[in-house]
Amino acid sequence: MNKYIVEPYKKSKDATKSPLRYPGGKFYALKHIMPYITCVPHDEFREPFMGGGAVFFAKKTVAINILNDLETDIIDFYEWIKNEKRCEDLIEILSIQQANRERHAEVKCMEPATDLDSVFKTYYLNRTSYCGIINRPAWGYAEGKSSPPANWGKFLRDASTKLQNSDLYSMDFSEILRMPATGKHVLLYLDPPYYHADQKRAYTKPFEIEDHIRLARELKQTKFEFCLSYDDCPEVRELYHWANINDVSWLYNTDNKPGQNRKACKEVIITNYDTEKKI
Ligand SMILES: C[S@@+](CC[C@H](N)C(=O)[O-])C[C@H]1O[C@@H](n2cnc3c(N)ncnc32)[C@H](O)[C@@H]1O
Repeated sequence: MNKYIVEPYKKSKDATKSPLRYPGGKFYALKHIMPYITCVPHDEFREPFMGGGAVFFAKKTVAINILNDLETDIIDFYEWIKNEKRCEDLIEILSIQQANRERHAEVKCMEPATDLDSVFKTYYLNRTSYCGIINRPAWGYAEGKSSPPANWGKFLRDASTKLQNSDLYSMDFSEILRMPATGKHVLLYLDPPYYHADQKRAYTKPFEIEDHIRLARELKQTKFEFCLSYDDCPEVRELYHWANINDVSWLYNTDNKPGQNRKACKEVIITNYDTEKKI
């Protein structure tokens, strides 16, 4: 087992923000997670549960980047904006949008006729729905608090640049873990749905107890180094009793209601490498 020195989080020069609002997104946890990622030298990075990709967008881009999520709409969206010309086409349509309830209701009912319509629908609903949930979305945009349509173009261009050196997939996580290595040193960052998920409709594909067990089994066997973030509960501690479990806690955004929008969150960061803290 390798041992790495965990140092306080320093923002990478090429760091950017996820273009998406994402349920379970790790933006507010970067300070806690990134030290466990940046301490591991690697030339191949894999993120099997990408979602909004807070960690991928924040970290230094390496030679090989394999990004995956079972949610096809999300991966189709990333594939689309990865192409600079298509990204500009999307920005052009978004630049004339209003963020209001009427338009949200219209877009929600829209039957996309083209791929561009589909990614437009995904992105518009992500930015204007409660918690960014696009599965049966509810209006969730707060004027003066949520990012207005005028800012969306910059989010998309920055993300497009960051995605240039990546390979995108929409498969079950196990396929990503089993891919043979191309680089010399592979690092996995995994952020599966919580064991005790409180947002059942956040994702369209269910992640059941058997899936949590399957993930632990695969990770026990992997030859690659991994960093895994999870909700802190006895079941997760039992599944990973053979690995290193680090306690962390942070505040995260739950919704747009003023005064009650940040909730304390206790999580664990699990690794199959040893770490020594210099924090
Ligand atoms: C907690 S979210 C990831 C959030 C992400 N780390 C971020 O910062 O936005 C978990 C993700 O796992 C995806 N997922 C669920 N089941 C999956 C599976 N079997 N294989 C791959 N991805 C899956 C969901 O679609 C969801 O996007």
